[in-house]
Amino acid sequence: MITHLLITGGCGFIGSNFIRYALAERPDWQLTNLDCMSYSANAENLADVADDARYRFVEGSICDAALVDRLVAGCDGVIHFAAESHVDRSIIDARPFIDSNVAGTQTLLDAVRRHDDPVRRMVHVSTDEVYGELPLEPTDARFREDTPIAPNSPYAASKAASDLLVRAAHRTFGLDVLITRCSNNFGPYQFPEKVVPLFVTNLIEDRKVPLYGDGLNVRDWIHVLDHCEAVAAVFERGARGAVYNIGADNERTNLELTQMILDAMGRGPEMIERVTDRPGHDRRYAIDSSRIQGELGWRPTRSQWPEALEDTVRWYVEHEQWWRRVKSGEYREYYERQYRGRGDHQGSASRG
Ligand code: DAU
Repeated sequence: MITHLLITGGCGFIGSNFIRYALAERPDWQLTNLDCMSYSANAENLADVADDARYRFVEGSICDAALVDRLVAGCDGVIHFAAESHVDRSIIDARPFIDSNVAGTQTLLDAVRRHDDPVRRMVHVSTDEVYGELPLEPTDARFREDTPIAPNSPYAASKAASDLLVRAAHRTFGLDVLITRCSNNFGPYQFPEKVVPLFVTNLIEDRKVPLYGDGLNVRDWIHVLDHCEAVAAVFERGARGAVYNIGADNERTNLELTQMILDAMGRGPEMIERVTDRPGHDRRYAIDSSRIQGELGWRPTRSQWPEALEDTVRWYVEHEQWWRRVKSGEYREYYERQYRGRGDHQGSASRG
């Protein structure tokens, strides 16, 4: 039997990787991708599957209640990736985060509720950032699903708000909704405002890499396809109303990550530019993913370090046309505004 899924935000980094993964791995899934094509969405991310008979693209917003209602009515389930996702942009202007992440999620929940007979399952793809930050010590502390929510950036607060709306929809209306909270993703097609593609592409352009603060903040890295596989498992086998953390036990300081990228690119430490820290910069994230491993049998298999990171670096080296197009236009303006005057020497984050 064919399962027809509505995927929101399928032209972004994680959404497009999920669609390619699902078309290859789930022959009985048919996918409708609803994407409003905002700055980080890119039709090129799915050019290789655009003509697949099991795939359909609809341009539109998750805030358009009539459109969302029609699409939810025609599907068996929803996987909700669409979100404003970049912390630094949320510090510049939080409003788009409230519109997409909070209001957009509620629009989807309203439609799922209206069409809850037969039941339509919805997976809400969230983030470990809703838990706030961990201290560097003790090193074995991890976010668990019952860790209290304590978001620190406007982005994280908007995702936490959407998580709470999903929880309320389950508790109040009994909707079959689930939440995933994943750690930092790396892999192909990531928008180059995020640290990995930003640093790799800067180095190819012979620009320095802008490392925030003391470089000792810790992130827990997972390959995007391990994340996609986990989301599929949660859709297929997760418990109604449950939250699942997703991570690959791969903590690195930003300095260690930067060193690995420099090594992979054959560049030295002189390419690091220390820049003023991000306001409210969370010190450490680390995910305990024992629940999804124990209950659903999911395991990360593609996040092996440093090989997986080196493969990702190579992908950006080999897909120069893709990121050069992305890094032109609006991106240039954003970059100049974001990094201007933050460096510790002349020509900040510019030519090395
Ligand atoms: O933890 C999951 C989250 O990971 C997702 O929910 C977010 O959508 C995603 O953007 C990511 O958040 P981060 O803020 O951790 O990612 P970002 O790539 O912006 O930064 C990663 C680390 O690198 C962070 O400690 C800040 C640092 N950084 C980042 C940039 C862009 C730098 O040192 N320099 C930079 O230029």
